[in-house]
Amino acid sequence: MAITVEKPGTDGLDEAVAAVREWQSDGVAWQLHPGDLGWYWRKGADATAEAVRIWRRDGRILAVGFLDGADLLRLTTAPDVRRDEELTRQLAEDVATPGRGVLPEGKVSVEAPMDALLHDLLPGHGWHVDEEEPWTPLSLDLTEPVKAPDLRIETVGADLAAEWAEVIGTAFNGSTFTAETWRTMASGTAFTDARCLLGYDDGAAVAAVAVWSAGAGKPGLLEPMGVHRDRRGHGYGRAITVAAAAALQELGSSSATVNTPSSNVAAVTTYKSGGFQPWAEIRDLTRDA
Ligand SMILES: CC(C)(COP(=O)(O)OP(=O)(O)OC[C@H]1O[C@@H](n2cnc3c(N)ncnc32)[C@H](O)[C@@H]1OP(=O)(O)O)[C@@H](O)C(=O)NCCC(=O)NCCS
Repeated sequence: MAITVEKPGTDGLDEAVAAVREWQSDGVAWQLHPGDLGWYWRKGADATAEAVRIWRRDGRILAVGFLDGADLLRLTTAPDVRRDEELTRQLAEDVATPGRGVLPEGKVSVEAPMDALLHDLLPGHGWHVDEEEPWTPLSLDLTEPVKAPDLRIETVGADLAAEWAEVIGTAFNGSTFTAETWRTMASGTAFTDARCLLGYDDGAAVAAVAVWSAGAGKPGLLEPMGVHRDRRGHGYGRAITVAAAAALQELGSSSATVNTPSSNVAAVTTYKSGGFQPWAEIRDLTRDA
């Protein structure tokens, strides 16, 4: 049976999210998480559907890819087919052929779990390991109780959406996140098991995070996390990170995970300071123009 690739349409998004959710497990250094789709959902269901690709064999979903920008495909597979040769050959062809509607011409990159056979197959066929921008995945085991942070934490609903948006906006220079964007994100399927948190000091919102559960016993994700630009260096980053881990623990996650460019030293140090352990750095596969 041939393997096919398709865009899901908004109706098919739930199925893609459910598959990616099902495939999460501890012990994989990094893989696309339903929370990544949930965070992208701030752009709307149509844009999310436009960015997602689903590979099937005989009706079964084998792989889900997500265009995080026009030139980066973030991809994961069902665990049992991560080294499936037929799937890997098809994926390699589809990402390399602009006409397939997956990646365009020119310089493009693919992120895939490090144990995927794609890492063995793509290099040497015009693709190489991207040494320029290594990423550091980090995780915190949640089997032990997480101590509450020394900061007032509120869970964000529609009433606090504007404040959450404001903190995220100042934390990420140039972010255009608004209360309306938050409502769009919160209306997405992937948000069902998510929480947005705000940290307050002296009545002012200073730090924000979104956490995404993938269900009980599975790793949860922090995305995004940031501290108000004018309030850095006071331990708020560490505190909101710990609060995020505690929220994921409440949601039943087995671990809290995050992935950040290794060059973002402040973020890597903050996660470590919150008790997260770094994994070996990961690298995308890139084809130069
Ligand atoms: C990363 C960020 C959240 C840190 O917030 P913060 O409130 O300044 O961090 P804290 O004061 O809690 O510091 C936590 C630790 O990180 C270290 N740290 C913070 N900023 C640092 C920097 N620029 N360089 C090196 N270390 C830094 C602190 O020294 C502290 O380390 P310690 O606990 O070992 O002493 C903040 O810089 C930010 O919002 N950046 C932009 C958004 C971002 O990159 N988010 C993460 C990726 S999703």
